[in-house]
Amino acid sequence: MANFNTVFVTGGAGYIGSHCIVELLEAGYSVIAIDNFANSVNGEHGEAPSLKRVEQITGKPVIFYQCDLLDKSKLEEIFSKHKIDCVIHFASMKAVGESMQVPLLYYKNNIVGTINLLEVMKQNNCYQLVFSSSCTVYGNPEYLPITEEHPTGDVTNVYGRTKYFIEEMLKDISAAEKNWNIISLRYFNPVGAHPSGLIGEDPTKAFTNLMPYMAQVAIGNKESLTIFGGDYDTVDGTGVRDYIHVMDLASGHVAALDKLNKEHLRLKVYNLGLGTGLSVKELVHEFEEVTGVHIPYALGPRRVGDVDSLVCDGSLAVTELQWQPKYDVKMMCRDFWRWQTMNPNGYRSETATAAKLNGTTLAVNGKQLNGH
Ligand code: UD1
Repeated sequence: MANFNTVFVTGGAGYIGSHCIVELLEAGYSVIAIDNFANSVNGEHGEAPSLKRVEQITGKPVIFYQCDLLDKSKLEEIFSKHKIDCVIHFASMKAVGESMQVPLLYYKNNIVGTINLLEVMKQNNCYQLVFSSSCTVYGNPEYLPITEEHPTGDVTNVYGRTKYFIEEMLKDISAAEKNWNIISLRYFNPVGAHPSGLIGEDPTKAFTNLMPYMAQVAIGNKESLTIFGGDYDTVDGTGVRDYIHVMDLASGHVAALDKLNKEHLRLKVYNLGLGTGLSVKELVHEFEEVTGVHIPYALGPRRVGDVDSLVCDGSLAVTELQWQPKYDVKMMCRDFWRWQTMNPNGYRSETATAAKLNGTTLAVNGKQLNGH
């Protein structure tokens, strides 16, 4: 098989995309990233502040375009400008609650966007793809820990259904056309941030995920945390999830690309999770211990669509992708907290906060960083 080294990353300015690009650059890949800034912060001149910081961390350039996957002609233009060997497709609308209110928007963005991408890839003879899927495709699990063979499709929300439908589409195209070489990665619950504190999660939309919410309580922007449900069939009645450090998730993508580079798989699916379940209360306790900050909380009603426990069997990725997760829950809390305290307003705090890396104060104003 031909070696490939130029990776096209959709949703590259987002939380998982930006961390993954750090790992890709450090592994020697070149990166061309796009983002439509639907859920990531944009700079004054259409640049991506998160990717400027990625350049700062790695000392390597990222070619970036502001581009929406629904704009197929722009996508075609980018593919014609660069020789792209493979694609990692993160771009997606992902708010579970919002997806139930505006389903058509979710179907259009996530599914039509993916169809456009696949068509342009095909036109350009590019058939290597890593797809960002989710444990949400398993629905309410029939057994734990969840293996890749667990049935999919009985999904509780529209966002999850878009991931499920895309996976089905990938099955069909890879069965019909033998050139495709695809890995779909089903993430469990990504948390944490790059250990430098320079990049992290900075959603532009109202967020409801546990760790960012808890961190907002810890820095005093929110009064207290509401725990959604205390009567689940779990160790302490609160929901159990399989939290994974975003840098481990990122290294999982590099491992997947390395696998595609070596073997023609047509389509393979892997879980990315540590296989360790942690309840909401246990995570709150870990966070308090690591940060030394008390998190006031109150028990509230269950959130619609939530399930008792989601814990994976992640052994297939470890054996077949030779993926080695390195971060435990304390590191997840430590790194998220470092990012949050160094950047209380996320990437918006261009002048308010000077980010510190290895004791050196860095101006985080994009102008000082490499431009394109
Ligand atoms: C959801 C999505 C998942 C997606 C992930 C990250 C589903 C079913 N889940 O995961 O696909 O990958 O977001 O975007 O589609 N909790 C509280 N209080 C809060 C917030 C959360 O108690 O203020 C609890 C939840 O009830 C749950 C746990 O914390 O038990 C984790 O919640 P969250 O971080 O929102 O992730 P998931 O819902 O598991």
